[in-house]
Amino acid sequence: MAAHGIRQREEGVMMLPIVEFQDVSKVFFKGATPIQALGRLNLEVREGELLAVVGPSGCGKSTLLNMTAGLMEPGTGAIRYKGQVVAGANTEVAYLTQKDNLLPWRTVEQNVRLPLEMGDHRFLPEKEKGARVARYIGMVGLAGFEHHYPKELSGGMRKRAQLARSLVYEPDTLLMDEPFGALDAQLKLMLQAELLKTWEGSGKTLILVTHDLTEAISLADRVIVMSGRPGKITAIADINLPRPRDVFQIRFQPQFGTYFEELWAALRTNMAEGEEIH
Ligand SMILES: Nc1ncnc2c1ncn2[C@@H]1O[C@H](COP(=O)(O)OP(=O)(O)OP(=O)(O)O)[C@@H](O)[C@H]1O
Ligand SMILES: [Mg+2]
Repeated sequence: MAAHGIRQREEGVMMLPIVEFQDVSKVFFKGATPIQALGRLNLEVREGELLAVVGPSGCGKSTLLNMTAGLMEPGTGAIRYKGQVVAGANTEVAYLTQKDNLLPWRTVEQNVRLPLEMGDHRFLPEKEKGARVARYIGMVGLAGFEHHYPKELSGGMRKRAQLARSLVYEPDTLLMDEPFGALDAQLKLMLQAELLKTWEGSGKTLILVTHDLTEAISLADRVIVMSGRPGKITAIADINLPRPRDVFQIRFQPQFGTYFEELWAALRTNMAEGEEIH
């Protein structure tokens, strides 16, 4: 096996990164005008970590997730998932997209059940499917709304239905793009707590894109700050706060404030630079 990308974990276990971005860049065209969305980006996502990605609007965060899910090809460089170059849809990840993509002709329950109708999940016993769907609908607080259609839900409820649909699949890796962005502060905290409870100890890898630095520090093992377009990584911080974490309390720890100041400084610089460029 090539030495490339192998890391020494604290426990002494040699681990390959689960996702690897190698010199990844992306240019979009609006007519003949090129838009450099991502600069050359190198990143290794560790198996089992919760990685938060923050950065100004338009810096390529969603593009990064789209490419990890195999929905978009990188312009240059390569993305590897478990050592294999991602080519075509990556069925090993669940993706909660920034845009609402619930199927309007399906009820909440039928939408949440969708991933269990595909791939190997089709063969799960019906009882297990039903139990999982009910569990995740309950977890996001949509019990009682199983038979509602998306148009009969509020924006926040639709987001929660999407969250349930991405969790029901129970994949090795979860990609979440602003999962709690549209929610009120109280509900946001409650769902963050639920997400942590589900993720902590699960061994799953979670890449979470967020605009909310407090959310990033509260939840993540590492926080990545990206610069304004073209997006590059300008700061990475290991968040050494103890687990299990209490999202309601953790922000009051003195160390939290130190992380916040450090990362906020990096974000603020990026935003100023981004404004100069455009
Ligand atoms: N399919 C596309 N076609 C053309 N341009 C695109 C496309 N997708 C993204 N872009 C452009 O690439 C840049 C990065 O977009 P992206 O959606 O990744 O940003 P983002 O960091 O997720 O922003 P936000 O925080 O607002 O969601 C933007 O300038 C956007 O206009
Ligand atoms: Mg986005």
